[in-house]
Amino acid sequence: FRYFRWAWRLTYLYVLGSIGYVIYDGYSSRHPDIQFQPDPSKKNLVVLGTGWGSVALLKKLDTENYNVIVVSPRNYFLFTPLLPSCTTGNIEHRSIMEPVRQILRSKKASAMYYEAECTHIDAERKVIKISDNSDIKGDVNMTEVPYDMLVVGVGAENATFGIPGVRENSCFLKEIKDAQAIRTKIMDCVETAGFKNQKPEEVSRLMHMVVVGGGPTGVEFAGELRDFFDEDIKKLVPQIADSFKVTLVEALPNVLPMFSKQLIDYTESTFKEEHIEIMTKTMVKNVTDKYIEAEITRPDGKKELTRIPYGLLVWATGNALRPLVKDLMSQIPAQKDSRRGLAVNEYLVVQGARDIWAVGDCAVAGYAPTAQVASQEGAFLARLFNNMAKTEALEAKVHELSSTLNVQPGNSAQIVQEIESTERQLRRIKDIKPFHYSHQGSLAYIGSEKAVADVAWLNGNIASGGKLTYLFWRSAYLSMCFSTRNRVLVALDWIKAKVYGRDVSRE
Ligand code: FAD
Ligand code: NAI
Repeated sequence: FRYFRWAWRLTYLYVLGSIGYVIYDGYSSRHPDIQFQPDPSKKNLVVLGTGWGSVALLKKLDTENYNVIVVSPRNYFLFTPLLPSCTTGNIEHRSIMEPVRQILRSKKASAMYYEAECTHIDAERKVIKISDNSDIKGDVNMTEVPYDMLVVGVGAENATFGIPGVRENSCFLKEIKDAQAIRTKIMDCVETAGFKNQKPEEVSRLMHMVVVGGGPTGVEFAGELRDFFDEDIKKLVPQIADSFKVTLVEALPNVLPMFSKQLIDYTESTFKEEHIEIMTKTMVKNVTDKYIEAEITRPDGKKELTRIPYGLLVWATGNALRPLVKDLMSQIPAQKDSRRGLAVNEYLVVQGARDIWAVGDCAVAGYAPTAQVASQEGAFLARLFNNMAKTEALEAKVHELSSTLNVQPGNSAQIVQEIESTERQLRRIKDIKPFHYSHQGSLAYIGSEKAVADVAWLNGNIASGGKLTYLFWRSAYLSMCFSTRNRVLVALDWIKAKVYGRDVSRE
């Protein structure tokens, strides 16, 4: 009983402490400290994008050292790992967004932000062209920004491989607006299928949800969709229950190629139990507004064309280069052999360019295009830039001390000592190791409150799948959310969806 009393007291203290922290965090974000104003005499560090790479850089960057300017058409950071949950309303989209203004306001020295798209990088003149592509435009909506140092963190766009009809007829899953469009379309299909006198074959088509691409995006979305149907839609619209079907189409022989064989098998068998059909070795060739055409490779090697009618089509076949990145690559001869993005060296400097660095999905550093890689790259650049600024300050100090040596020969011993100590500091700082990616593991939600995880542990890997892994998935992503505010909102959304069900109203 005594232990129980102690456990109760500790829990009580923990809850009280957490509430106190949340209140303090809210208060301090609403009443931020006074910021130093940017110093125009310092170097212009221009950062493109507000995604994983750029925000990790901004988080760790000492903004006092540079005149920081951020340019991005998206004035918030998006926590993409929880985006699939927004498509069904399990999480509300604003819970995984963090305003860039909030991020920059918490820095010691203020940084500029322009909500704009960078349309051209002039590597020769060291200027970028920016354009306001939002709905409301002022008299000036296009201009140039000069840079001394430029970080390109513009991510990638959705790959369609030029397959006809994809852009016109399918939904992607990359941005908030994509998740909102999917959420609206799911309910549109359900309500249209429930329309009076709808023919059975049309109900089957409308209730057929097809996902193309068996990478983690496609798999996680298929799992979330099935949960939405089983936990909410089926109960509210029982007349369409028998027609609802989810199909995952993948060109390769299996889904989730980056996971271990054991977890691929586990995912495929879980999908079977969840009645999610997986069509592997099936390459989509054409998309119309009502069906897709795909080429299936049979076990004997024969190829066969099939038509798959659908109500909702979600296209998740990976990344392609953004036009801005293609344009920059075309200006740099050293980039001519690079196909997947800006080739960078081990310090993330764009090869063949002066004072341009690249991070995340738009950079090719030999790693997969993931948030994990992008954020480690961003944090590395912040350390590099902080060190570079310190180096410059120390070099200036050595220079100044050396010149006083000539004018104050009486103090020479003391000055020489100071020069030596500064040079030692300089050597330590200058010795920056190249970027090294540390893989923490891969996690994916697969529906029915199950997840798969390939987690790095000591020198090996632990592969696990199931309900416990799902709890790990939830706690890992909750702890990785950008801010305490995001964490609280996501946790509340999960509780709300569990207690009241997902909101099926169509916006
Ligand atoms: P992004 O995060 O895409 O950010 C790019 C930024 O550049 C955006 O702010 C954009 O508005 C801006 N931008 C675009 N064009 C311009 C321009 N012309 N000028 C200026 N700014 C521009 N990875 C994981 O490791 N774990 C996961 O669980 C995971 N889940 C994912 C789930 C989904 C649904 C998706 C789509 C991806 C997921 N990823 C995950 C991958 C991860 O999101 C990406 O690898 C990561 O976002 C890449 O970061 P980035 O900074 O390069 O680009
Ligand atoms: P992906 O590149 O991982 O997978 C796309 C899949 O689509 C491939 O398996 C490919 O074979 C298939 N495909 C391509 N064209 C096709 C066609 N015409 N017909 C049928 N199938 C076709 O893309 P995804 O899932 O969007 O992920 C992008 C990046 O984001 C990856 O690096 C991934 O690791 C990362 N990510 C990580 C997550 C996680 O760790 N939980 C979640 C989501 C994304």
